[in-house]
Amino acid sequence: MTTTMSPFIERAQAKGEVYIEQPYDLYSEENHETWRRLYARMLPRWEKYGNEHFLQGIANLCLNPDRVPRLEDVNQFLSPLTGFRAKAVSGYVPAFQFFDCLRNRDFPTTITVRHGDKIDYLPEPDIFHDIAGHVPMHTDKAFAETLVRFGDCAHTAAELAKGVTDPEERIRRLTSVIKAMARFFWFTIEFGLMKDRSGTGYKAYGSGLLSSFGELEHCIESPEVQRYPVQLEWVVNQYFEIDHYQPLLFVVDSFDHLFSLVDELEGWMRKGKLDNVSPGEPGVGEADLRSFLHD
Ligand SMILES: [Fe+2]
Repeated sequence: MTTTMSPFIERAQAKGEVYIEQPYDLYSEENHETWRRLYARMLPRWEKYGNEHFLQGIANLCLNPDRVPRLEDVNQFLSPLTGFRAKAVSGYVPAFQFFDCLRNRDFPTTITVRHGDKIDYLPEPDIFHDIAGHVPMHTDKAFAETLVRFGDCAHTAAELAKGVTDPEERIRRLTSVIKAMARFFWFTIEFGLMKDRSGTGYKAYGSGLLSSFGELEHCIESPEVQRYPVQLEWVVNQYFEIDHYQPLLFVVDSFDHLFSLVDELEGWMRKGKLDNVSPGEPGVGEADLRSFLHD
């Protein structure tokens, strides 16, 4: 079940199956060994740079440091806390379906494991990114509510798009709104920082940071990283690139703060304030646009 080398996943993709089972017996000893190495070297960095809600989440999930997790086991610890469940997927989930899953408290989860000889290189999400990077946060009530609220935003975006009669204008506006949502998600859920308890330092809560051995230290320690208090008007207009360490990160005060920003994002969407965000990355693909127009 290695990333890009799993016939089981390829067959599911060829059949158009997005939601799949986790065929646990297909994990090789090498896959388990990769998980063990990833987990062992991350642990001290999590303790040093991870947000306290994340550390509580890691404790709550009782992950086995030595074996690739079974989603079923993860869900036994996760669901009673916030209602969230990790749900196995075969690969990319188009944007609307992804956010709609969050609204239903399902988290689309990649089940493949990265190559053992490239543990730093992550061309796409794998189970370590999704389960060790994202899911611990889903045990936190305020964070879980934020994700659900994000799912509401996707529904609002779809509704608003359907109300635009001119097809070209509909696509133009929807592209801008999806871009704004993707940027917000990137700079918070994937790469967010939070003030630490003292109010002077930072801790990571973004899963892209928490699943990267190198970047987790870099994002807190490096003088090359710009860290600014989060501002919605900036985040929705800020392009990002995915192939190197992030040079610019945004800081929230708390998850209640983050939730209020998602609320504000939806308010801005309804007022048309996201219809003309600045162009640039990320690109919005055909599949993502279609997903918003045909639910
Ligand atoms: Fe992610």
